[in-house]
Amino acid sequence: MNAVDDDAHRDFLNRYYRWSRPIYDLTRKYYLLGRDRTLRALAAEPWRGLVEIGPGTGRNLVALRRLRPDAVLGGVEACDAMLALARTRLPDARLVHGFAESAPYADLLGVPVERVLFSYSLSMIQDPDGALRQARAQVAPGGSVVVVDFGDLRGLPRPAADALTRWLRTFHVAPLQASWLTERGASLTWGPGRYYVVATFPSTASRAA
Ligand SMILES: C[S@@+](CC[C@H](N)C(=O)[O-])C[C@H]1O[C@@H](n2cnc3c(N)ncnc32)[C@H](O)[C@@H]1O
Repeated sequence: MNAVDDDAHRDFLNRYYRWSRPIYDLTRKYYLLGRDRTLRALAAEPWRGLVEIGPGTGRNLVALRRLRPDAVLGGVEACDAMLALARTRLPDARLVHGFAESAPYADLLGVPVERVLFSYSLSMIQDPDGALRQARAQVAPGGSVVVVDFGDLRGLPRPAADALTRWLRTFHVAPLQASWLTERGASLTWGPGRYYVVATFPSTASRAA
């Protein structure tokens, strides 16, 4: 993405979230499904450093902090309004402004970043391919990138899937397609009706000789 696109996306996010952020966690609880299950599974794995891309209000990092008090946590967030809120909730996390497609974050935590989490952010990122490539290159060798997001909705009745897809489009959100994920080497787990998907990708970073 170029600077003009970045500026436009940042403006859109600030307009969109500035007024909705006080009610964000309460309202999204009912339709950003699969997040808590993904966080519990992540917390049971062996890692120390995790960066969330697009942490929003910080609700996932707050939950991970509770589940894994030993963890070193950070985030890269493109929306200034959300970043300011997350910082108040997570004073000990390394939270920075940046864009998923271009921000360097391999050295953000002072320990290796062994997990990168995208929770309902990849579907609204302008260049998801670039963001995923960046994440797989930034996560430490042997680590992984975990995505939980809207799935391809193929298990839902067609009219419901079409209506949901149209509604999401008005918020600049595009559900993730199975072929897009598998072509990029993901292991997939689907939620009911393929409403959400959890996709895991291995790191592409090489070990230092
Ligand atoms: C739907 S919210 C999800 C927030 C949080 N991850 C959750 O699960 O509640 C998507 C978040 O991604 C952020 N975002 C969108 N595009 C981004 C980009 N290119 N780089 C970094 N963050 C981005 C938004 O500002 C927002 O905070």
